[in-house]
Amino acid sequence: MLRRSFIRVLASGILFTLLAKQSRQSLAKGQYAFEHGIASGDPLADGFVIWTRVSAAEGETLAVLWKVCADAAMTTVLREGVVETGPATDYTVKVDVRGLPSGARLYYQFIVEGIKSPVGKSRTLPSGGVEEARFAVVSCSSYPTGYFHVYREIANRDDLDAVLHLGDYIYEYGIGEYATEYAEQLNRVPDPPGELMTLSDYRRRHAQYKADPDSQAMHAAHPVIAIWDDHEIANDAWHGGAENHNDDEGGWAERRDAAIKAYFEWMPIRGEARGEETRIFRDFRYGNLLSLIMLDTRLYGRDMQPQVSQDMTPLEVENALKQPDRNMLGSFQQSWLRSSLQRAAGTTWQLIGQQVMVSTLRTPDLGPLLDLDRKSPVSREVLEFNVAMSKSNPPLLLDTWDGYAAARQDFLADLKAGATNAIVLSGDLHTALAGNLLLDGEDEPVAVEYMTSSVTSPGFADYLPEIRPGAVRDATLELNANLQYMDTERRGWLCMTLTPSSCTGEWHLIDGLRSREYTSSVDRALSVQAGKVRNGLAGG
Ligand SMILES: [Fe+2]
Repeated sequence: MLRRSFIRVLASGILFTLLAKQSRQSLAKGQYAFEHGIASGDPLADGFVIWTRVSAAEGETLAVLWKVCADAAMTTVLREGVVETGPATDYTVKVDVRGLPSGARLYYQFIVEGIKSPVGKSRTLPSGGVEEARFAVVSCSSYPTGYFHVYREIANRDDLDAVLHLGDYIYEYGIGEYATEYAEQLNRVPDPPGELMTLSDYRRRHAQYKADPDSQAMHAAHPVIAIWDDHEIANDAWHGGAENHNDDEGGWAERRDAAIKAYFEWMPIRGEARGEETRIFRDFRYGNLLSLIMLDTRLYGRDMQPQVSQDMTPLEVENALKQPDRNMLGSFQQSWLRSSLQRAAGTTWQLIGQQVMVSTLRTPDLGPLLDLDRKSPVSREVLEFNVAMSKSNPPLLLDTWDGYAAARQDFLADLKAGATNAIVLSGDLHTALAGNLLLDGEDEPVAVEYMTSSVTSPGFADYLPEIRPGAVRDATLELNANLQYMDTERRGWLCMTLTPSSCTGEWHLIDGLRSREYTSSVDRALSVQAGKVRNGLAGG
């Protein structure tokens, strides 16, 4: 998400009339192809989910052979079977394979009528004494905005246990809306070309993303553990609606359920779509080294964001944000989190994967930082409004935990009570960032936060006519002493390495988002030592 005022401005841009290239073909009867790659995810000590989609003639029902092998040549078969697919699941195929050895690098493949899919690599969870685990953390992959170089970089790594996708895996916008300015030039016009509303729309959009070669390479190389954020459904979603959903677009429940159904069809996630009861919070244990706890801060229990307006005083705004009964996780998920932390007993690290920023983030006074006479994708009117609002240093965003201040206190109190070394992961903001997480009134962190930049989606620096590059970032870091690091300019991914003694996050940032040639470098690394989370993050 980004500030809605920016989005509204971009949505009023010139509408392209070009029709998007169809990424889902219907083949002649008897013809089959694997055009959307393969994927695996949600590893367990004895298995993982494998996924593919078969392109076939519309209406056919197919028998698909799958197998999991110990070798890349696919000769030593450990498990195999046959599964049916057809129009009811959009020809996607998902198998929850069990009975595999733990801590193993394994290979999988699908075959339909003699046509073979590519071979994918996956891993089961290790058990017992684990010396190291490494994850790629990503979020916010908007297809029309740029190339998925980040996915390619991750595909090229051979030392990852899994990819954690924190959401905004797809975006719901149509051409002419948010972050589609370069779509035509890049030949990445959204398909379907309009905003997603129906099951067919959401399926087609997932198909377009899964047809991307860099996405396919990442999925083929590593298991993915994914949670959704808002754009898998609609901008700034909560359990009862979304900023980007109006009554004239049909019922919210129908749209949400269509988006959820398509997500479960097209992602290598365990379980099934169950409308508003759908639970994507779940945990994974890497022996005694770490417990990975994935949360849903978006759809399951989240109440509507606080509504503030220009005519409210700063005190009225503060009070609106602190409203004590505004839920983020919801009571069921909150008690599940407590029990998950209990299950994590004996692990060194508790890694919490969730969507939105937990650290407090106050807006610096933008007046001296912006040159309003300079060209910007944002109108002068909107910039002037934001400059005026920034004078009292309000929280920058109300869709993050800053809009749910009481719920954040409960969340951090649970981490303080139930975790030994809590590391919180986040995305959503299109910003590389790190911060210490403190309960109100305390001066020692109860956890630290690592935020990944976006795969492609634009950051604040793309919108603001700063007097010099990084001016807003520097002022933000100065104002928010809880933050240790921030980069608003570059896209990238976060590499998390955990050992029995330390946890290190490295921000890999890229240059060349919209060219085929790109470069990648580590911008920063920050560590925390086991048993010393209370000391906060340290540079490296
Ligand atoms: Fe995003």
